[in-house]
Amino acid sequence: MPRELLKVTIKSATSIEKAQLLAVGLFSDTKPSEQLYKHLNEKLDGAIDQLKKLGDFDGKKGRTAVLYSGGKIKADRLLLVGLGESKDASYETLRQAVCKAAKEAVGLKVSNAAMFLHSLFDEKKFDAEQIGRIIAEAVHFGIYKYDEFITSEKNGRPAAVDITIVEPKEQTLKKISAGIKIGDVIGQTQNFARTLANRPANMIYPAELAEIAKRTARQTAGLSCTILNESQLKIKKMGGILAVGSGSEHRPCMIVLKYNPGKAVNKKPLGLVGKAVCFDSGGLSIKPAQNMDEMKMDMSGGAAVLASMQAIAKLKLPVRVFAVICAVENIPSATSYRPGDIITTYSGKTVEVQNTDAEGRLILADGLHYAKQLGCEPMIDIATLTGACMVALGTYKAGLMGNNEKLIEQIKQASQQSGEPVWHLPCGDEYLEEMKSKIADLKNIGTRNGGACTGASFIGEFADKTPWAHIDMAPVTQACEPMKKFADPHSRGFGVRLFVQYVINMVK
Ligand code: BES
Ligand code: ZN
Ligand code: MG
Repeated sequence: MPRELLKVTIKSATSIEKAQLLAVGLFSDTKPSEQLYKHLNEKLDGAIDQLKKLGDFDGKKGRTAVLYSGGKIKADRLLLVGLGESKDASYETLRQAVCKAAKEAVGLKVSNAAMFLHSLFDEKKFDAEQIGRIIAEAVHFGIYKYDEFITSEKNGRPAAVDITIVEPKEQTLKKISAGIKIGDVIGQTQNFARTLANRPANMIYPAELAEIAKRTARQTAGLSCTILNESQLKIKKMGGILAVGSGSEHRPCMIVLKYNPGKAVNKKPLGLVGKAVCFDSGGLSIKPAQNMDEMKMDMSGGAAVLASMQAIAKLKLPVRVFAVICAVENIPSATSYRPGDIITTYSGKTVEVQNTDAEGRLILADGLHYAKQLGCEPMIDIATLTGACMVALGTYKAGLMGNNEKLIEQIKQASQQSGEPVWHLPCGDEYLEEMKSKIADLKNIGTRNGGACTGASFIGEFADKTPWAHIDMAPVTQACEPMKKFADPHSRGFGVRLFVQYVINMVK
């Protein structure tokens, strides 16, 4: 049995009583005459002045320093977190500072900490509720450490940590607390997605993911879950998902989640479709050994969809949302599908398989057609689809493609608000031409060039006329290099904040 991951409880208060750590944010240009600076510096007999003079802390972004209070303030330790220049302050500045403080707190193995990182942010420019939400999301994000299979006591840490967000003004505290409630749900569910992605493929296979989805639905009011098992997929003639899943002992399945609130702003449900390849070896077109282990995360799209559904239901957002998660394992064996095979997808369109490693688009073809049949509009799919997208964008942004300008704009907006970056790339037209087969309707690979765009174009054929967007999250599956300073280096649970924000915006 794995041990439980670190549990976090977030509270808020107008002042701190006692804490093992107090985290405070300072800009690089915060003056010693500033109230907070002056107060702490005086209490600590000029220790902050001294730190600055010695050059040990300059307030630059990401810099931290720990001071031991010796009983001079209520906290055992003071953690200073650099916020960079005040003129550059943004919500993202706050997010990263809170993540960093949370991560440092875990490193110091404290079981409670107080945070006062937002205090120098201009009240006129930053909304208090938004601040609360970001702080809570960031506490969860920064505290997360994937250590459920580390048994050695050397890595001992408390089972749970209490975080208190401090805000002296009652009125502001109220708003911050409202934000914390929302951010707490989003942060927790995002970490749920990270754990699903981080868990290896011997533990998370299609049937197990289905079990987890069912359990999640049972535990979440308003959420229902049904599973299409392999025989049901066969009856429905879902040739894409069946072909990809044909090589593995772990049989494929489709996980369908529905959130149908009593009052909803939309008639046609929003459709979220996730790629959940629990392990992508490439199949008979097998991948090189190096980094193949990372393909346990090829179900990150499905994980993002499942976790988002939980968040949307927990937040009781008045929006109908259906989710389709295509779960398979792509493995070479005597029963695998082969290069050269022609398969008939659920839509009736035929596909010549030229490379069994281009499997994501085959399962999404069936997933999108199914979502369309459920009446979903618009549909958004999310998938670790192509290495080419990572080549194009680096590891900082996900690719965004689609057939509808308005939807693309809405997703871009949600991306900016949620701090999960996407970049619009083209699809359709010439790209689609590359995907036409001489002996079937489509083939599953294009030329060497523009792989993210040809992949998306293929998928777009199955959305057909329905407004649709595709998020290629291959670039952002794991924490990118700059992120590792304030977050766990494995799965970053990309997509949960983006989807939840998108749905929140639907209500506005
Ligand atoms: N799951 C991979 C894409 C991927 C690569 C995700 C690296 C994360 C990191 C996908 O199934 C795949 O293998 N794509 C192929 C497509 C190609 C055969 C057209 C790829 O990117 O090489
Ligand atoms: Zn894949
Ligand atoms: Mg593949």
